[in-house]
Amino acid sequence: HEQITIRTLFKKKQEGKKITMVSTYDYISAKLCDQVGIDCVLVGDSLGMVFQGLESTLYVSLDEMIYHTKAVKRGIKRAFLIVDMPFMSYQVSKEDAIRNCGRVMKETGANAVKLEGGEDIAELIHRLVSIGIPVVGHLGFTPQSVHALGGYRVVGKKEDEAQKLKRDFKALEEAGAFMIVLESVPSHLAQELTRDSKSITIGIGAGPHCDGQVLVFHDLVGLVEDIKPKFVKRYAQGAEVFRQALQKYKEEVEKGIFPSEEESYG
Ligand code: KIV
Ligand code: NA
Repeated sequence: HEQITIRTLFKKKQEGKKITMVSTYDYISAKLCDQVGIDCVLVGDSLGMVFQGLESTLYVSLDEMIYHTKAVKRGIKRAFLIVDMPFMSYQVSKEDAIRNCGRVMKETGANAVKLEGGEDIAELIHRLVSIGIPVVGHLGFTPQSVHALGGYRVVGKKEDEAQKLKRDFKALEEAGAFMIVLESVPSHLAQELTRDSKSITIGIGAGPHCDGQVLVFHDLVGLVEDIKPKFVKRYAQGAEVFRQALQKYKEEVEKGIFPSEEESYG
């Protein structure tokens, strides 16, 4: 299998083939995604919540994103690798943002960066693209703005929000964002945005009409048990499988069953 590039992804869009993306944070899980032919692996700043156990994505640092991306990169042979720019790594100034995005590209071997926001960051995106850094946008519910948005919710149900979303989408598209993630957006709106979009749309809680879909690894394998947004589908009972393995291990050690002859050196 050959390396997935921007060109491969646009070809898929043109042929009407769905693009698959998984957000994950470590070598082993990235390797599994790559093995089954997931097109894009995203090192999402959701790692703040899923990996670090924090309450939101706001506390994740650029160094932490780089650390996880290096691990993920080693598990990938073929997938297109995207990195989330964390909160405050691109909002302070354009210079700061460019330096930070450049750092990610230089230090990790990633193929693209992802930034949350619309019209306000269009100029920055245009600049990044002109430097040669592919940019993925992220609109709808943007977790780095959870406090401003007033909690986890669908964005674009009301007409004014829908209009703003359309303006933001257009701005990102024109700025050259080759891909745009739509999170927690009404299905019909995501469909409308995708219909005449030059950019590749990737949905999460945005219905079936996007060019592709993304889910967090730990959500889709059922390792996250405490929260389950409507848009998550669990394809395995990961937490239960692991819990049973751990229980069995504990029992066997306590009963002197493990290790047996087989796991011991002569
Ligand atoms: O942080 C993340 O994992 C994401 C995806 C869910 C889109 O931004
Ligand atoms: Na994210």
